[in-house]
Amino acid sequence: MKSVDIRELRKDDLQAVMKIDEVIRGFPRPAYWERRFINAEGIPPWASLVADVREPQSNEVDNRMVGFLFGWASIWDFGLRDEVGWIDVIGVHPAYRYKGIGRALVNEFSRLAKDRRRIEKVFTLVNPEETETPGFFSQIGFARGKLVHMERSAGHFYDKAGGLNGNRTLSAPTRRKTP
Ligand SMILES: CC(C)(COP(=O)(O)OP(=O)(O)OC[C@H]1O[C@@H](n2cnc3c(N)ncnc32)[C@H](O)[C@@H]1OP(=O)(O)O)[C@@H](O)C(=O)NCCC(=O)NCCS
Repeated sequence: MKSVDIRELRKDDLQAVMKIDEVIRGFPRPAYWERRFINAEGIPPWASLVADVREPQSNEVDNRMVGFLFGWASIWDFGLRDEVGWIDVIGVHPAYRYKGIGRALVNEFSRLAKDRRRIEKVFTLVNPEETETPGFFSQIGFARGKLVHMERSAGHFYDKAGGLNGNRTLSAPTRRKTP
C-alpha cells in the first residue's frame, strides 16, 4: 500500500505541478504557474502544499507528486475582522482520485493554519457549474458561509443613480479642485 506525504511546496516542484494541471485541464499553463510560484514566495510556506506518494519501504518521493493546494491567509480583507485561511487552487491527478489525497491536503492546510496562525476558519470559493470541487468541499465539511460574491461588468459606465449607461469606455476620473 502506497503512503502519502503532504509537504510544503518547493521551487523545484514547478514542472510536476504544471504536469498535473495539464492532465486536469487538457492544456498547459506555464505562464500562470510561473507567476503562482513567484507569488508563493510572498505567502507563508505552510499555505502552499503538495502531496507525494511513496512506495512501501522507499524514500524516493520525488517525481511522484500527485496533488497540490495553493492557499493564503487574510486579515481584514473583505472587512473580515479575524484572520482567515483561503484555499484558492486544489488539484489531484485523475489517476489518484478518491484515495483521500484531496482531503489530506485540505486537512494539513487547516491544521497548519490553526497551529501557525491560530486561524479558526478556512474559506474557499466554488463554482456551482463546475462538477468536482463543490461536491468535494461539501463532503469534507465545508458549508455555505455568509459572504456573498458580487460582480459587475468592467467595461460599462454606471452613473450616480446606479443606471447602466451602455458600452461607453471608462475614462479616468476627473480631479476635483480642492477649495
Ligand atoms: C476535487 C478533487 C481535489 C478531489 O480530490 P480527491 O483526492 O479525489 O478527494 P478525496 O479522495 O480526498 O475525497 C474526499 C471525500 O470527498 C469525496 N469526493 C471527492 N471528489 C468528489 C466529487 N467530485 N464530488 C463529490 N464528492 C467527492 C470522496 O468520495 C471522499 O468522500 P468520503 O468522505 O466518503 O471518503 C479532485 O477531484 C480534483 O483535483 N479535481 C479537479 C479540481 C480542479 O479543477 N481544480 C482547479 C480549480 S480549484
